[in-house]
Amino acid sequence: MKRVVTVAALAVVWTHVGFAGSIDAKALYNNTCASCHGQKAEKQALGRSEVIANNGYDDVIKDLKEFKSGHGDKIMQAQVAKFSLAELDAIAHYVSTLKDPKTPANAEGNEDEKGEHN
Ligand code: HEC
Repeated sequence: MKRVVTVAALAVVWTHVGFAGSIDAKALYNNTCASCHGQKAEKQALGRSEVIANNGYDDVIKDLKEFKSGHGDKIMQAQVAKFSLAELDAIAHYVSTLKDPKTPANAEGNEDEKGEHN
């Protein structure tokens, strides 16, 4: 039993070492984006964004790159300014794993027409 505990503890340490230096997209999202978009990306930020949990990776990264290159909403341009493209990419992947609990029908691959707006 004691041995099992030791192994488990080591596994935890290794996991952390393994992630050192890589991007913690969840933390970036929670610290920077969740206040407006919600922990599960389930909110309409400031009452006017899309519910981005329902957008796939492609959609989210496209929007983030657009903001990053100085287009679209000013608030969002300010949000993405401090992140590298690699970080935005990781955040977009993280967002695409989130599910809006209010709309289970959208939970899997919602690829219908979402208003493209610029
Ligand atoms: C201060 C509030 C706020 C924060 C913080 C914020 N956003 Fe937004 N976000 C908005 C608003 C408002 C819009 C809608 C812009 C518009 O009307 O086009 C938006 C739009 C978006 C969109 C495009 C979807 C759409 O409706 O057009 C994405 C993707 C997005 N945000 C992701 C993020 C990510 C990722 C972060 C963290 C890096 C973040 N946002 C942080 C307020 C915020």
